[in-house]
Amino acid sequence: MIPEPVTGPRAWTRDTLREEDWRIPMPAECAAEIEALDRTLGRDPVPAFLLDAADYELDACRTLMGEVRRRLDDGPGVVVVDRVPVEALSDRPRIEEVFWLLGAMVGRPVVQTRDGEVMVEVTDTGVEKRIGVRGFRTNVAQPPHVDNSFNHTPPDHVSLLCLRGARVGGASRFVSFYSVHNVLLAEHPERLERLYRPFYQDRQGDFWPDEPQTVFFPVFKLGPGRDLRCRYTHFTIPAGYETAGVEMDEETRLAFETMTRVVEDPALCCEFTLEPGELQFVNNRWCGHGRASYTDDPDPARKRLMLRLWHREGGARRYRG
Ligand SMILES: [Fe+2]
Repeated sequence: MIPEPVTGPRAWTRDTLREEDWRIPMPAECAAEIEALDRTLGRDPVPAFLLDAADYELDACRTLMGEVRRRLDDGPGVVVVDRVPVEALSDRPRIEEVFWLLGAMVGRPVVQTRDGEVMVEVTDTGVEKRIGVRGFRTNVAQPPHVDNSFNHTPPDHVSLLCLRGARVGGASRFVSFYSVHNVLLAEHPERLERLYRPFYQDRQGDFWPDEPQTVFFPVFKLGPGRDLRCRYTHFTIPAGYETAGVEMDEETRLAFETMTRVVEDPALCCEFTLEPGELQFVNNRWCGHGRASYTDDPDPARKRLMLRLWHREGGARRYRG
């Protein structure tokens, strides 16, 4: 357990985080490199997953993505690049190729689902959120969480490229789990101790029939270098107890409820709405991300749509890396 309050750039709150800490304007040289890349790929195509940034003139983009990675690991853990000139790109496959190359400069892309998907669409597929349905396929509100807290190998970093926003709602929201930890340590130390012991989490459908439907991991743990590793998702923990057929004891329930209250405290959260072309990155080990519920335009071609990559350096590239 981290026994004292954490200070420094990772432990930000709504009032200490400044927009210039997390928003990076895309320099004109990067936009020019991306537009040149579009022309090169138009004449000399390569399938997205074979693309290697080393094969193209992308020095300015490499510098920019290096700064993104620095702020993800040693800064606030949330970064928005404002923005990729998506309207200047030829078509949807080209947008995916550009996103793939920029994302791969930040971290190694890995598989996000049991079925082997590497780049997924975050959009409302019309399914209702319930046990077994992953949140990125729905339009329901998602309180700040880490992605894939219910898998053995969650990603280190998560990136999103916004192609279209919702007609109403869908604002992004972030919280530093270092700041959550600070509040718990100061105000609820006995609950914090329980959060370092395991909780059931439901695996959201991404498991084979011969595998257990739940995992059992602590919400907080210390990783290498005593860095905080958080596995918190509001939905999957109660769902995990339900599927495991285990009733939460009083200590577990109070710890979970206290965690939820602190995570959703507006005084800890940073909020903004992603615009088309903006690239959002988050450190998935200690920075939570969420979004408000949203309503789409009735025209399916104008639905909210984000592309998502997951990045992890350790283990294999497969879902159970
Ligand atoms: Fe998420």
